[in-house]
Amino acid sequence: MTTAIIGTGGLGSVIARQLATGGDTLRISSANNESARTLAAQIGRAAFVAAGNRDALQGADAIVLALRFTVLKGVIDEIADSLADKLVVVPSNPLTIDAQGNLSRVLPEGQSSGKVVAGWLPAGTRLAMAFGTLSADLFMSSSNRSPEPAVLFYATDNDRAGEEVERLIRTAGFEPVKAGGIEQSGRLEVGGDLHDLVVGPAEARSLIGGA
Ligand SMILES: NC(=O)c1ccc[n+]([C@@H]2O[C@H](COP(=O)([O-])OP(=O)(O)OC[C@H]3O[C@@H](n4cnc5c(N)ncnc54)[C@H](OP(=O)(O)O)[C@@H]3O)[C@@H](O)[C@H]2O)c1
Repeated sequence: MTTAIIGTGGLGSVIARQLATGGDTLRISSANNESARTLAAQIGRAAFVAAGNRDALQGADAIVLALRFTVLKGVIDEIADSLADKLVVVPSNPLTIDAQGNLSRVLPEGQSSGKVVAGWLPAGTRLAMAFGTLSADLFMSSSNRSPEPAVLFYATDNDRAGEEVERLIRTAGFEPVKAGGIEQSGRLEVGGDLHDLVVGPAEARSLIGGA
């Protein structure tokens, strides 16, 4: 399968590496494409540097928007007319970072990135919030864990998107567990009870049930 990854920074690069390890072909882009070129050179034949964000979508089954929340809407507007036949995966937490590296929320407490992003996408887009629950370091160290795989939680309102994101999560070396619909995505995001948790499937399912 072919996955487009827009954003090849701290998180996008580790998602790309793990999906390539799992067998996906990647089409990648970033703001000036320098980081995308560097990453593609490291990954090898599975990664193609697209000419831009719209070009990254060509032939892709799924797209991961590994972007800071503050640039997400601009990129969604840029590619909105090409999303109809694709799964759209968003890992973005509702955070901004200042020049000193301090993180702060950009949405009021209780308002989730998932809910806001769903409102930015064209009606009918197959959205799944996923891949943003673990820090990049934890993501790398937890993927392809054995004997028991680590879980990546996801949230979606769309059954087909659920099947598609489960395939993507397994390709990246994790066991998928659905937290619920997009209204549950705050649980996955920074400050949520399922954020930054490395757990196996049984514990994950009991956490979901215990909400
Ligand atoms: N890093 C983590 O550990 C982590 C963990 C969980 C969730 N997340 C979430 O993942 C998202 C990405 O975080 P990050 O740490 O990977 O951020 P980052 O290191 O700053 O990377 C952001 C990427 O976005 C690209 N970009 C910016 N504007 C763009 C545009 N208009 N078109 C295409 N690409 C553009 C940048 O391109 P250039 O490389 O060319 O500058 C860069 O590759 C955030 O929303 C964050 O909340 C991150």
